[in-house]
Amino acid sequence: MFVTFEGSDGSGKTTQIHLLADHLRTAGHTVLTTREPGGTRIGDGIRQLLLDLAHTEMHARAETLLFNAARAQIVAEVIRPALAAGKTVLCDRFADSTLAYQGYGHQQDIAELQRLIAYATGGLQPDLTVYLDIPPEDGIRRNRGRADGDWNRLDAQELSFYQRVETGYRQLIAQQPQRWAVINATQHRDHVHQDIVRAVQPKLPALAPSP
Ligand code: TYD
Repeated sequence: MFVTFEGSDGSGKTTQIHLLADHLRTAGHTVLTTREPGGTRIGDGIRQLLLDLAHTEMHARAETLLFNAARAQIVAEVIRPALAAGKTVLCDRFADSTLAYQGYGHQQDIAELQRLIAYATGGLQPDLTVYLDIPPEDGIRRNRGRADGDWNRLDAQELSFYQRVETGYRQLIAQQPQRWAVINATQHRDHVHQDIVRAVQPKLPALAPSP
């Protein structure tokens, strides 16, 4: 089963993926967690190119292609083999991020992006996408307050950009509501976790009884 996590920057995806992974492992599932951009040696190299604050000249199309190059690599090298081995794959961002950020945020053509994503993924789609829902202002505040100083080129956008991204996510959810679980991420992290477990549980494959 392939589960992706989406949401504004600062919505708590990373924390929640780890909590869910621990929960699923305790229940006996074999879980692989990964993230985009990155998750492979080649993808991590592309991530460095994308995040580098010095790369102020990066063209929007180059950025889109780099995200999708990293995606093609992680799908082929990590995600498809893990799914074929029966693992539950939890991925921090996937193709919906390209539609929300490059499509709605940077206003690139959605139909062209969809063709590019289909090429990069070979048509792989998540079984479930968890959307951590917080107002973009809160996400920005949380992100800028991070103690790790993890500020990068992709964080340097204005509020109106994040508002377009949020609008984009809402449209994507409205187009395929059965694929998405929208979770109120302004709650305490334990409540967010419980809501995620409730959304994921019914979709999990049944476990074989232990021998
Ligand atoms: P990251 O440091 O992983 O942060 P976050 O916790 O917000 O996921 O940064 C990823 C950034 O890349 C984030 O701002 C969203 C952006 N992004 C895109 O613009 N397009 C994409 O296709 C992907 C996967 C990410």
